[in-house]
Amino acid sequence: MRVLVTGGSGYIGSHACALLLERGHEVTSVDAMLPGRASPHAAATLGALAGDSGRFRAFVADVNDRAALDHAFSRAKPDAVMHFAGVAYVGESVRDPLLYHRTNTGGTESVLRACAAHGATRLVFSSSCVTYGDPGAAALPVTESCPQRPVNPYGWSKLHAERVVADYAESPGARSAGFGAAVLRYFNVAGCERRGRLGHSHDPETRVIPLAIRAALGIDASFTVFGTDYPGPGSPDGTAVRDYVHVEDLVGAHALVLEALRPGDRRVYNLGTGRGTSVRRIIESVERVTGRRVPVVEGARREGDPASLFCSPGAIERDLGWRARVTDLDEIVASSAAWMKKTLGV
Ligand SMILES: NC(=O)c1ccc[n+]([C@@H]2O[C@H](COP(=O)([O-])OP(=O)(O)OC[C@H]3O[C@@H](n4cnc5c(N)ncnc54)[C@H](O)[C@@H]3O)[C@@H](O)[C@H]2O)c1
Repeated sequence: MRVLVTGGSGYIGSHACALLLERGHEVTSVDAMLPGRASPHAAATLGALAGDSGRFRAFVADVNDRAALDHAFSRAKPDAVMHFAGVAYVGESVRDPLLYHRTNTGGTESVLRACAAHGATRLVFSSSCVTYGDPGAAALPVTESCPQRPVNPYGWSKLHAERVVADYAESPGARSAGFGAAVLRYFNVAGCERRGRLGHSHDPETRVIPLAIRAALGIDASFTVFGTDYPGPGSPDGTAVRDYVHVEDLVGAHALVLEALRPGDRRVYNLGTGRGTSVRRIIESVERVTGRRVPVVEGARREGDPASLFCSPGAIERDLGWRARVTDLDEIVASSAAWMKKTLGV
């Protein structure tokens, strides 16, 4: 297949490009190369993976720039699009909600217009567990039918984008073109490619596992735990519980979904392991893997942060036989720590 990947120089998008190349697809990345989010080296690494097969090319373009997007689509002639490009920080979305609506919702509309104009008839869209808001302990594990009630602009921008995808898929033009779409709601994506060629390059870093590793390695003075008084049984030790899925498992699900998508499909899947892990368990794992202590500061809970959030990945397991293979937290942490030591030179 010819696959256009938006956000192909980002954390998840770059891992997806590598897997698609490995599976024999032709890949075109479109990325605005936002500083502190895109990896400046991902395209070169992916180009080297493709070798002289000519199966990889990269365009620097904003998905909201229709002319630039048209140019990339007309060169790539994609059968399918994986749409990862987006902004994904809760706190930033509260400070600058319009950036989130323009990039995540408007960007999705723009990508769909390009699909319609250039005959791309499959879409795999990156959504998020943040669209569920705080579903409460009784809703765990979260299934796809759980009500979506976002509690921040990031969540709303993704929920609106889901709606844009659904409405477009139902339109007469999309139906007659045989358009098929999958919305994938990721839980917490973690780890790096275990072969060490690709990883995350976020600056400033906001995610729990890399932050705990930074503190262990002495890059940051301390690691703040937001909330140590969440009640049981949601939290076993007072800290927040999340579902950490390894990035290679996550992109593996994307490849399976893409290859299974049929005209008229409207699939929605949660992607996670189905297990919750507390922040304290992460700290212990980082200490085991790095052999160093994590200097911890105990902070207050952050507004809108659920005590516990993990999914049921049962739907994709039943439909496509997908299941997260990396189940050992230390393996996830080790893949991140190795990448960070290499790229941060510590
Ligand atoms: N990382 C997670 O845990 C997680 C969880 C749920 C959902 N998601 C979603 O997955 C997608 C990828 O996340 P990530 O962690 O790889 O993020 P990332 O920040 O590492 O990568 C996003 C990429 O998109 C590019 N980009 C941003 N705005 C763009 C625009 N307007 N036009 C073109 N390119 C643009 C950036 O330059 C960057 O390379 C996002 O849509 C995010 O909302 C991520």
